[in-house]
Amino acid sequence: MKYKFILIMCLYFLFVSCGNDGRGYEYMPNMYRSPSLETYGKNIVFKDSLNARKPVKGTIARGYLKTFNYGASLDDYLLSGQEAVNPLENNKDNIDEGKVLYAMFCKHCHGSNGAGGGSITHPIYSAVPHYNDNKQIRRSGATMSELTEGHLFHAITYGLNAMGPHASQLTETERWKIVLYVQELQKKSD
Ligand code: HEC
Repeated sequence: MKYKFILIMCLYFLFVSCGNDGRGYEYMPNMYRSPSLETYGKNIVFKDSLNARKPVKGTIARGYLKTFNYGASLDDYLLSGQEAVNPLENNKDNIDEGKVLYAMFCKHCHGSNGAGGGSITHPIYSAVPHYNDNKQIRRSGATMSELTEGHLFHAITYGLNAMGPHASQLTETERWKIVLYVQELQKKSD
């Protein structure tokens, strides 16, 4: 009886092991060879499969700004100073909101009137330029009081030396509001 069983099993394995392509049985072939969907390749998921997938509605490309498309370089700084235009209206509401944001993000270094003297007294921030300074020539070739809205937006976005970039802390609109307020401080006489 025992031998018969072993014989049957041997015959069984002999037959089952023949007849496929030599790699043994695959019970779940998709697990071994998952169908890959290539970019721009034909696929069964989308009808217009040869077109690139469009980003989801409302997607914002990293670093992309609607109203300011300049890089961090000096050339782009200078260009933005000539070209960039603040999309916001220069009105009291926007300036007031700029003032609130300025108090949160800039005042501790630049002081409440933009003339330095903020609460941070570390020596590295001792040389904070005054917004209304009209003597010392800056990298723009002009003085602080002559920096344009583009220069200001660029400085807030990318920073300058000891001043860090504020692109990740402030939205585009918030930055333009601060620009409006800093422009008010540029006019100050003290
Ligand atoms: C950590 C301290 C610090 C904070 C916070 C800070 N700044 Fe500055 N900022 C500086 C220093 C220091 C400089 C001078 C950098 C230099 O000339 O090397 C400077 C320079 C500037 C300039 C001149 C840039 C140029 O093109 O010459 C502007 C404009 C300015 N800051 C605006 C702002 C505004 C607006 C904010 C708030 C959103 C802000 N800063 C936040 C420290 C700071």
